[in-house]
Amino acid sequence: MNEAIRPGPGQILQAGAPLQLSVVVPTFNERGNVATLVQRLDAALVGISWEVIFVDDNSPDGTADAVRELARGDSRIRCIRRIGRRGLSGACIEGMLASSAPCAAVIDGDLQHDETQLGKMLGLIESGAAELVIGSRYIEGGSADSFNQQRLGASKFATAVAQRVLRVKIADPMSGFFMIRRDRFEQLAPKLSTQGFKILLDVVATAEGDLRVVEVPYTFGSRLHGESKLDSMVALDFLGLVLAKLTNDTVSLRFLLFAMVGSIGLFVHFAVLFVTLEVFDPPFAEAQAIAAFCAMTGNFLLNNFLTYRDQRLKGFGILRGLAIFYVVCSVGLLANVGVAWSVFDQEPIWWLAGASGALMGVVWNYAMSGLFVWRKR
Ligand code: GDD
Ligand code: MN
Repeated sequence: MNEAIRPGPGQILQAGAPLQLSVVVPTFNERGNVATLVQRLDAALVGISWEVIFVDDNSPDGTADAVRELARGDSRIRCIRRIGRRGLSGACIEGMLASSAPCAAVIDGDLQHDETQLGKMLGLIESGAAELVIGSRYIEGGSADSFNQQRLGASKFATAVAQRVLRVKIADPMSGFFMIRRDRFEQLAPKLSTQGFKILLDVVATAEGDLRVVEVPYTFGSRLHGESKLDSMVALDFLGLVLAKLTNDTVSLRFLLFAMVGSIGLFVHFAVLFVTLEVFDPPFAEAQAIAAFCAMTGNFLLNNFLTYRDQRLKGFGILRGLAIFYVVCSVGLLANVGVAWSVFDQEPIWWLAGASGALMGVVWNYAMSGLFVWRKR
């Protein structure tokens, strides 16, 4: 600290009790729930010095406004509003990194988690018994009664996969309710994935057993207001996380999806080419151009829906993105042919040259699409 601004003896500003706990609440369209959550935290955390950090992804229902309204009358409440980004994991990570308390908890904003467990969880960490405490539905005393059969089945299946494939020795790694020592979290943070829903699983898998974990039972309740944001796409997120952890982050699900969409595009191309030639009998070059056009358009839409669903373009942005995607893919095709040509020139093996060109094309298209089409705003 600069000598000039260091407070001298007796000059230290009057501060509140040192902060013990930051409660991080990821929110998307939870306007109706925030006030109740704050009231319940206030009741549950008597005698503890705490703050709550809401991390809102620019909810259209004005959740951030509702939080600020409360925060104006209570300095324990903070709000981070993220623009142009979506994702539960990323929001939790940002919230915890914004905290300065020695302990950080993550709790859902819809009151499905049991905030009355927080005191006990903090006790376990402060006493040194644990570095990570998990609110668990799948141990003695916990339950997920509010889940329907389908959701319960999916949750148990993902749990089994995580336990076997990632060798995670925890009863409820899919839980979204936990507390962690912040210094331990800071160490792990650079390796965590910001995409997806499964922040706790990521933390546990990334720590590779080097984290003292205790699970406490709780009952997963029903939502107060609003609806769940979890859809069938979280299965993809889950798959991506498992892949990334298994391969030490070398295989990205996004790239795999992009390549998969690319091969679907090849199929579309041939189908359209065939049909156009059969039905309309145009000059070949015209048919080829139409086929390429259809394949690129289809690929763009699929990528917008799947590969980049967290940054999905909407409205006018779709047209703009599509136009840039055409340009990117056209240059990609040139790169593809160029590489294939020079490989063939060295070694006239048609499939090797073809595969090299295709690989060049997909890597180029992927890199450039990420930069120019679905770029982070
Ligand atoms: N900032 C932000 N961004 N918050 C989000 C986003 C997002 O993209 N998506 C969801 N949230 C917030 C919600 O507003 C809510 O506070 C919390 O994250 C949980 O989301 P829900 O939509 O209520 O999920 P859920 O109830 O279906 O799933 C919960 O239970 C699962 C256990 O099976 C979550 O806690 C999951 O993390 C948990 O795995
Ligand atoms: Mn919920």
